[in-house]
Amino acid sequence: MSRRAAATLLLLGAAGGAWAADQAAAEGDPSRGREVFQDKGCSRCHSVWGHGGTLGPEITVAVAGKTWDELVGDFWNHTPRMIDEGSGRGYPWPTLERGEMADILSYLYYLRLFDEPGNPARGADTYARLQCTGCHTLGGRGGRLGGALDGFGVYPSPLPLAQAMWNAGPLMQREQLRLSGPIPQFTGHEMADLQAYIRAEGRRAGREVKLQPLPNPVRGAAVYRSKSCAACHGQARGRVPDVTRSALSKTASEIAGLLWNHSYAMGTEMAARGVPFPRFEDGELSDLIAYLYFRGYLGEDGDPRRGLSVFNAKGCAGCHSGGVEGAPDLAKVLPQTDRAGLASAMWNHAPQMHRLMAEKAPFWPKFEPGEMRNLVAYLRSLSAPPARGPGGGGSGLRGLED
Ligand code: HEC
Ligand code: HEC
Ligand code: HEC
Ligand code: HEC
Repeated sequence: MSRRAAATLLLLGAAGGAWAADQAAAEGDPSRGREVFQDKGCSRCHSVWGHGGTLGPEITVAVAGKTWDELVGDFWNHTPRMIDEGSGRGYPWPTLERGEMADILSYLYYLRLFDEPGNPARGADTYARLQCTGCHTLGGRGGRLGGALDGFGVYPSPLPLAQAMWNAGPLMQREQLRLSGPIPQFTGHEMADLQAYIRAEGRRAGREVKLQPLPNPVRGAAVYRSKSCAACHGQARGRVPDVTRSALSKTASEIAGLLWNHSYAMGTEMAARGVPFPRFEDGELSDLIAYLYFRGYLGEDGDPRRGLSVFNAKGCAGCHSGGVEGAPDLAKVLPQTDRAGLASAMWNHAPQMHRLMAEKAPFWPKFEPGEMRNLVAYLRSLSAPPARGPGGGGSGLRGLED
């Protein structure tokens, strides 16, 4: 098992209950999802960071960080082989209830937030390039203006460093301008590399390691509100970017770097609008990062009209509107459902569909990116209540079929 696997499994294990308690959120709980992944036997065939079975692909390589619709599409595309591999070995098909499906999907997305361990050699280059050594001491060497950085070496995660930098940002930037030095800008995983370098070089007593709580997007949403981020990002206009996609599928250190890179311009804008420059305490920055990470996860709603074309083109209509024995009229059987409910209905019925498909149609319809989103919008429109007027959710989409 890699170092990252060990550290993260430890973290996920330790965090379990705390998360569940305050996440009543409908769209899934990653730490519960990790348990479902174990309990349902997914890990018999799939490994996570090299830990688990090898019949199926390593999950962190194959799908981690994909958005909701991409994941549901991937699930579907691969079901025939999963079914065949499983039934050959006498594994029962793992059914997933609505909530379990939402939990697993959010877990698979969440996994990508964790960085590979940083590289201390690359971190040394970053430390030199950004001239940290001019103002800070590390291992007893360097300038004295900004104080010693050795203490950050106890953290495996780069986020405490990022948070302290953010809080000291206005001061550091003032000094930097005074000394005409460059304002540090991070690219890619440099923040993680820098942290690894500080861990390797920093002087510290003993081998103390401080683990941070898992980044929690629900708590992060509260941080986002309390720090008035929405005062500017609520409606993107002018110089203010729309942050919904900024952090999508990026790792924690990449997002931390992104925030830092914009902190100077943001600070100026904040001063202009009278918004106080936010300071972060405890795990606040880490939670905020998880919240930003999850903002784009669900994506936008699909287009039900395009979804109807997908329904026809993939052969769904052939059985479900064609009176094929056993294939229900989806408008009748799909209860007032949401996207997780639909995803779980499709997953749970896959084995029977697979059997029938093998007889009736020689192919298994695969989804391209975007198609699942539209299909789900169409299927949801089928089970929506009758028209409530423009924009009222169920706008009589059955009529589209004419
Ligand atoms: C019997 C072994 C087996 C079990 C159990 C199993 N899978 Fe799979 N899974 C596979 C195989 C084999 C593939 C590759 C299928 C293919 O290439 O079409 C796969 C593919 C996938 C993919 C797509 C990966 C990609 O490359 O896009 C996802 C996502 C996935 N499985 C999730 C799950 C989840 C979640 C569970 C538990 C609910 C699960 N699997 C249980 C064998 C299994
Ligand atoms: C121009 C001088 C200067 C440069 C260059 C500089 N810093 Fe700073 N840094 C400061 C000052 C000044 C403070 C504020 C110290 C204080 O609050 O007393 C500070 C504070 C910090 C803090 C917060 C310390 C704490 O204990 O809370 C961290 C972390 C930090 N800097 C990291 C870095 C890193 C990493 C780099 C290189 C990317 C860097 N700094 C580059 C001047 C600088
Ligand atoms: C006073 C207005 C204002 C406030 C408040 C504000 N921002 Fe910003 N934000 C901006 C501006 C302006 C930019 C563009 C800065 C630039 O061009 O470098 C930006 C950029 C960003 C970016 C980079 C987006 C990208 O894709 O490049 C992120 C992420 C971000 N802000 C997050 C936040 C968070 C989180 C908060 C709350 C802690 C926050 N912002 C508060 C104005 C604001
Ligand atoms: C070969 C015929 C066939 C095709 C093609 C087919 N299905 Fe099905 N589908 C069935 C059958 C039979 C069932 C009932 C299975 C069961 O009860 O386990 C079913 C069940 C379902 C359910 C669950 C309904 C419920 O009771 O909650 C959904 C959702 C569904 N199909 C969607 C689709 C979609 C979307 C497509 C196209 C990608 C599709 N099906 C293609 C035969 C088919």
